[in-house]
Amino acid sequence: MGLGKQKDLWYGGKNNPVLTPAPYLLNLIPIMIGKKKILITRNYPAAGMDLLKKEPFQLTFWEKERPMTPDELAAQAENHDALLCTLTDRIDKPFLDRCSHLEIISQFAVGYDNIDIPEATHKKIPVGFTPDAMSEATADIAFGLMIATARKFFFLHKTILNKEWGYFNPTSHLGFEPKHKTLGVFGLGRIGVKMAERCKAAYDMTILYHNRTRNALAEKQLGARYVSFDRLLEESDILSVHCALTPETRQIFDARAFRKMKPSAVFINTARGPIHHEPDLIEALQHKELWGAGLDVTDPEPMAPDNPLLSMENVCVLPHAGSGTMEARDRMSVLAAENIIMFYKTGRVSHIVNPEVLTG
Ligand code: GLV
Repeated sequence: MGLGKQKDLWYGGKNNPVLTPAPYLLNLIPIMIGKKKILITRNYPAAGMDLLKKEPFQLTFWEKERPMTPDELAAQAENHDALLCTLTDRIDKPFLDRCSHLEIISQFAVGYDNIDIPEATHKKIPVGFTPDAMSEATADIAFGLMIATARKFFFLHKTILNKEWGYFNPTSHLGFEPKHKTLGVFGLGRIGVKMAERCKAAYDMTILYHNRTRNALAEKQLGARYVSFDRLLEESDILSVHCALTPETRQIFDARAFRKMKPSAVFINTARGPIHHEPDLIEALQHKELWGAGLDVTDPEPMAPDNPLLSMENVCVLPHAGSGTMEARDRMSVLAAENIIMFYKTGRVSHIVNPEVLTG
């Protein structure tokens, strides 16, 4: 192929040896600039991808909107040294058995329940992740859902679309005010603390929390009080979930938990859908055991458009948009890229889920 023709197929930036594929090329295009081959599973923000392109890697980008199927993912990863993936990629035992040669997996997310970490650790594959990059953004979504649910934003908006904006009615569709209410945080880590800070500063709310370990700093700075899980359920006016999805937290918010909550309480989940049992949540809301729910995560995702939660007056659902700010996604992209670059330059990974594989 002559140079002119090549230029037609590939184009690159100034001072950047990396070539970017012309849009009409294949969906999956290796960009050959070096030895280590890195599979990049989604269209991640340029902030981090540009860092990878500056290094002597051979990058393969999956260019379709949809994630790869498990089979596509394994077939591609088989020919790569490293994987940059996210929560829609299933990195389970069958995948890891097929791709045990992978030298590093770098996850573009703070949560990593899509990855079988014990199996990756067993196979000595370091798993990087992107903690704290989206704490502000996700806490904003939790805080926003609290207000949106308390004031029925989504339902009221729908009345306009349905041409039901009638006369002012002094007693219909009333919400409540969060001021001086009690916030219960399930999982007072980075994001939970940001949510608690917002609730304290805006509404002087009392902060209760339940965690695996005590958070002494939050107790000191926010006056957060550690309580048992049952006390958290019984005393919270707004209960906001910020823990990781683990075997212990899977469906911990079930019928029993919802029955223990106040009928006036709002349940907020911006962590992972399977932490609540969705049919039990629907029933609790239908039977008025709970006042409302604000969800950024559902089980399954995407949620079916005819899910009863979507037509409830006191429920606000978002399509897993917690980290969806330009700032957060850029930071995530940079951290995910840096984890790979640092690994190949120094043998270390700055944000790692299973450090024992590098030290042991
Ligand atoms: C988003 O859900 C994340 O885990 O980063």
